[in-house]
Amino acid sequence: MCGIVGYCGPKNATGILLDGLKRLEYRGYDSAGIAVQNAGRVDVAKRTGKIQDLRSVVPPSFAGNCGIGHTRWATHGGVTDANAHPHSDASGKIAVVHNGIIENYVQLKARLSSEGFVFASETDSEVLAHLIAYHYDGDLEKAVRATLAQVKGTYGIAAMHADEVGRIVGARNGSPLVVGVGDGEMLLASDVTAMIAHTKQVVYMEDGEIVTMTRDGFSITDLKDRKLDKKVDSVTWDLDEIEKEGFACFMEKEIFEQPETIARTLSGRLDPEYATGKLGGLNMTSRELLGVRRIKIVAAGTSWHAGLVGAYLIESLARIPASAELSSELRYRNSVVEQDTLYFAVTQSGETADTLYAMRELKRKGARVLGICNVVGSTIARESDGGVYTHAGPEIAVASTKAFTSQLAVFYSFALLMARMRDMSVSAGARYVKGLQAVPELVRGVLKQRDLIQTIAKKYSRARDFLFLGRGLEYPVALEGALKLKEISYIHAEGYSAGEIKHGPIALINEETPSIFLVPDDSLREKVISNMKEIKARRGPIIAFCCEGDDEVAAIADDTVTLPKTDELFYPFLMVVPLQLFAYFCALELGRDVDQPRNLAKSVTVE
Ligand code: G6P
Repeated sequence: MCGIVGYCGPKNATGILLDGLKRLEYRGYDSAGIAVQNAGRVDVAKRTGKIQDLRSVVPPSFAGNCGIGHTRWATHGGVTDANAHPHSDASGKIAVVHNGIIENYVQLKARLSSEGFVFASETDSEVLAHLIAYHYDGDLEKAVRATLAQVKGTYGIAAMHADEVGRIVGARNGSPLVVGVGDGEMLLASDVTAMIAHTKQVVYMEDGEIVTMTRDGFSITDLKDRKLDKKVDSVTWDLDEIEKEGFACFMEKEIFEQPETIARTLSGRLDPEYATGKLGGLNMTSRELLGVRRIKIVAAGTSWHAGLVGAYLIESLARIPASAELSSELRYRNSVVEQDTLYFAVTQSGETADTLYAMRELKRKGARVLGICNVVGSTIARESDGGVYTHAGPEIAVASTKAFTSQLAVFYSFALLMARMRDMSVSAGARYVKGLQAVPELVRGVLKQRDLIQTIAKKYSRARDFLFLGRGLEYPVALEGALKLKEISYIHAEGYSAGEIKHGPIALINEETPSIFLVPDDSLREKVISNMKEIKARRGPIIAFCCEGDDEVAAIADDTVTLPKTDELFYPFLMVVPLQLFAYFCALELGRDVDQPRNLAKSVTVE
């Protein structure tokens, strides 16, 4: 979704802004632009398309030391050059970039138009440029403050004025903004990845804060102009974590990183001596955890699928009723919050608006909400009552892969902790810990099947529709497999419980509609085999993911990928990885943009 970058310092801002925007590409966007201060003016270049398209229209004369840039993901107004940011006022001295939505822009625009302000775009964001101009009397920060007092909605903004050389003013309400503190230079961005090449010292802004920066430093105040003392944090990962490192694209790299990322998530979270989970960040005593009578998980997209696996595990191992709900549903449902219910907000980015607002609504009602987040310092990580970082490292591809398996790893550790406090014996716990610790190596083995999966993907990639079918723990994995295929190949795919196909989806089956069956060697295997036979009887092609040596399944399926045997609880890890590869190779075969699929954004910070 939209991204912001700003720079002030001794260097030429243009290159730094364009490189920063390139780093933000993964968030998803359809147009981009930059504004650079230059000898009493602000030069603006913006256009639809990719950053390389923008690069081609930026003239060498863009040579100032202070500037702002933006990647836009269209919400209000089509994908046009005029709607791209930065937006300017009539004098061309002000430039502003904006993430979020100005909800009262129609009223503000009408009022400004009646006073003679002329609008050049259809966006909600442009009102900010004109309002700042309206309030400007020589002090940009003051004008921004007065503007924000009139604005309703969400924003992360960065603004400049040609007469205030070397100064950027930023503000945040509901859309992330991070200040980068460099050596004799300052940066501002919606995402740390845009500035990591220049500094690892960052200040996370909170809602209701305004920053003014020059190359010599920054000051952060609240909306009432009270100065705030902010902590400078250090980013713990390096630039190479956001490089492709020899892989064709980030998604491929991230799929292949999973043996390491799962191990990293589990590291320090398992206690082999007492055969339990160790999750210090929950901020809950054992007594409080024992008092939990119900667990509810809220999330969106892939994170919701991880939540479904988590709920299943918690309920079956710890015997605590557990469920996972879409955050976009929960936030508008007047849900009942009970005293002894524990909530989890699961989110890779920690910024998904639906999940954030669902969490805030739950907290307003007195709920304790823990976060399971990947992005350190993200809004949900900071606003939750405690939680667990997944430590999967930056995930750049829009389609989530390694974050999913790391979210699973957190739920597996948490379910163990809760189960050991209740029914699970030490010996059962010890077996579980051993099984879980073996998962990264088993995933490594699964990844070796890449060539076979690529061959199968090539064979089926022209199909129009797919069904993904699994039962029990494999049902959410089937949903995730279908989502992956849809997201990056644009092939229509449905995930279903294999037991449910006879209630409708079987009507879709014919020779041209392949079904992907997840058939681990578990207690539901026989049932799933019956479901496979139902499909075969209707001549539907079948691709099966089953355990090594399962000749019965292989005999029914048209194509088979075999996986190592493990305890039945751990198959979701082994099943999802080949599904990620399958989606990846289908997308590759169809020539899709794997890392930045059309219409999608990495973190959806609007409703
Ligand atoms: C977007 C992404 C999905 C992701 C979902 C939830 O829709 O395209 O890949 O699963 O948001 O994101 P989160 O950051 O909250 O896990």
